[in-house]
Amino acid sequence: MSFVVDTSIPFTEHFVRHGFAVLPGLVDPAFCAEALDEIRRLIEDRRPLDTWTIDKPGIVNVPFFEDVGRDEGNSSPVLGGIFDQPQLRAAIDKLHGGPDRWDGVRNYYYLIKPFDPAGEPKLNLDGFHVDFGTLPPPTLYRGFLFMVSLVDTEPFSGNFTCRPGSHRIAQKMFIEDPELVGNDPQVKELICDRLPVYEFVAEAGDVLLWHHLLYHEGNPSHSLNRRPRVALLGEAFRENWLTEINPSDPDLSPWERSLAQNSFHKPMRDEGRFARSKRAERIAVYEAKGISVDEKWKHYSHRTG
Ligand SMILES: [Fe+2]
Repeated sequence: MSFVVDTSIPFTEHFVRHGFAVLPGLVDPAFCAEALDEIRRLIEDRRPLDTWTIDKPGIVNVPFFEDVGRDEGNSSPVLGGIFDQPQLRAAIDKLHGGPDRWDGVRNYYYLIKPFDPAGEPKLNLDGFHVDFGTLPPPTLYRGFLFMVSLVDTEPFSGNFTCRPGSHRIAQKMFIEDPELVGNDPQVKELICDRLPVYEFVAEAGDVLLWHHLLYHEGNPSHSLNRRPRVALLGEAFRENWLTEINPSDPDLSPWERSLAQNSFHKPMRDEGRFARSKRAERIAVYEAKGISVDEKWKHYSHRTG
């Protein structure tokens, strides 16, 4: 069963109900062209996109983290400019409930999913997951993600695909059993099996915003005109982790409302502890090498509430 985006409700409401929202044409095509050019420069491939394959330039997923505790040494002012796109920033502010909520840290990736000659023009329905590996996913978290398509894609271009509504069911299960691993096959099946499937077929500049507990996947790319998926994926996080949610609070942002659909909730464990300990480890390695680290990063995301 395939899902059709409901354009009769505000995008914020779509995010609350379905765990994602699609905003067509949100990013300036001129930025998309410039970003694509920058990616071509980085991968040293100027060939037409329909000649790209999984062998060359290959499936590419490169992180750019301003967060020193996750830094991979990549930097691109051009691609980082995605956070300066005014309509995208306005959408982030709206979902977060104000311009002062996003922490201003530019963490993002560029993604390339080129044509796979051995693939088939169909969706893979086996790879749905949440991005927490073998850890129990946080029930509240600290923000959401966004994907900007830099090119026009078509069905089966290797597009982002998701299970609308999975965020709500998943959160209920993870609240009831905080030790559940979201990517355990049995857990995934219970959450996803009866839900429809949505494939993000996009034009350059279209944006999809999604909830951290929305089950999703990429797909092999094998579309009619061999159009690859080329996209930027960004994080719109708050510095502080949400530590409780009260559905009767009248001042919840739309993002908070997306987390308030399963009654009052206050996690027993510190859900940000793992991320903070990884950051502290990396910072210690830098300092051991004599590289000075700004104080900001030593306290980053330590606040709660
Ligand atoms: Fe993922």
